[in-house]
Amino acid sequence: MKKIFKGDIVYTKSPAMFEINEDSYLIVENGEVKEICRYIDSIPSDCEYLDYTGKLIIPGFVDIHLHSSQFFNIGLGMDKELIPWLNTYTFSEEAKFIDLEYANIAYSKFVSDLIKKGTTSSVIYASIHKESTMLLMDLLEEANLRAYVGKVNMDRNTIDELCENTDESIAQTEEIILSSKSDRVKPIITPRFVPSCSTTLMKGLSKLAIKYNVPVQSHLSENTNEVEWVKELHPDIENYASVYNKFGLFGQTKTVMAHCIYTSDDEIELMKKNGVFAAHCALSNFNLSSGIMPVRKYLDYGVDVGLGSDISGGNTLSIPQSIVSTIQASKIKWLESDKELYPLSFSEVFYMATKGGGKFFGKVGSLERGYKADLLVIDDSNLLDINKFGVLERLQKYIYSGNENNIIAVYVGANSVNH
Ligand code: GUN
Ligand code: FE
Repeated sequence: MKKIFKGDIVYTKSPAMFEINEDSYLIVENGEVKEICRYIDSIPSDCEYLDYTGKLIIPGFVDIHLHSSQFFNIGLGMDKELIPWLNTYTFSEEAKFIDLEYANIAYSKFVSDLIKKGTTSSVIYASIHKESTMLLMDLLEEANLRAYVGKVNMDRNTIDELCENTDESIAQTEEIILSSKSDRVKPIITPRFVPSCSTTLMKGLSKLAIKYNVPVQSHLSENTNEVEWVKELHPDIENYASVYNKFGLFGQTKTVMAHCIYTSDDEIELMKKNGVFAAHCALSNFNLSSGIMPVRKYLDYGVDVGLGSDISGGNTLSIPQSIVSTIQASKIKWLESDKELYPLSFSEVFYMATKGGGKFFGKVGSLERGYKADLLVIDDSNLLDINKFGVLERLQKYIYSGNENNIIAVYVGANSVNH
């Protein structure tokens, strides 16, 4: 099936610059981009033609770190740092997902908000509960979104309701892996973070990851007290990243680590060597007083970096808001702490929000030939005035001053997503 989209098409092939195709045709075959043309002679009769003349067409946003079971906590409890925040607000909310009815209400609203905000691919922490995690996978599948979804694993240092039996935690994770059949919504192994997981649990999860070639997600060096705690728990292991590495959860299969603020040069080198992605979560890092990730350093080392909303540490699912905060954070980091960490440019961060994070999924996040036709149509007419703006200026205005109401259509694999 062929589709042709017409509009002002913008994306980033590389972090350094935008590819801008004003008033052009995006030709899609079997859900993948075939080419972009400035002119076409006529629309073939076997083609669906989607005329968005005058609108922006951009890749769907990619969020590579968020907690769906914290959706109802968005905006609450921003007065604490990570560990007391988890103990005061977060664990008690996640415990509610033992109730499938509660999960259905929360996850339906969550999926609908993801679509509204234009996030077409996401890497999600659900909760420890197998049934509600599978329910979320079904809802994402029905909605036609792309996602990795993880049943959270934890068997120490949490409230009783969330503290799993180690063998059951591993067995239930395996059941989810064996039952999932979708190409778009897939399981991901999710040890919450080192303080929540015994060494037996980490080793068991690594075995599953390798046996079924399933990716891994976790948290790394988000908060100074957390880093100290990991040192106390594992005094014999040289650093936090090496704890995951020692137990087989650090790039043995495709891996993403959220935050990475207090990571040493040795750890960043290990990330590069093992092909581990970093999820930068600027909004969460502000809200929980965690710090500012030195993103420039990761880029210099050649580590893949994408953006994470990290709700509900982050206060919105909006990736445009994460883009703005990421650029602002990089400016403050440069100004206040390290003049070698040059601020991130608009194109570099747009790239992270699309193709950079999209790499975790494969050919996702760009509109180059062979990429999945995951795209957003942006009507920015309310943002324009008597001045004549170019396509790139219009994109800047939309990201910095627009909102979800500017998104008038969402497509995944060129199929329309109801929103
Ligand atoms: N580290 C361990 N669990 C969490 C969580 O739920 N949110 C954040 N931001 N960090 C974590
Ligand atoms: Fe997180």
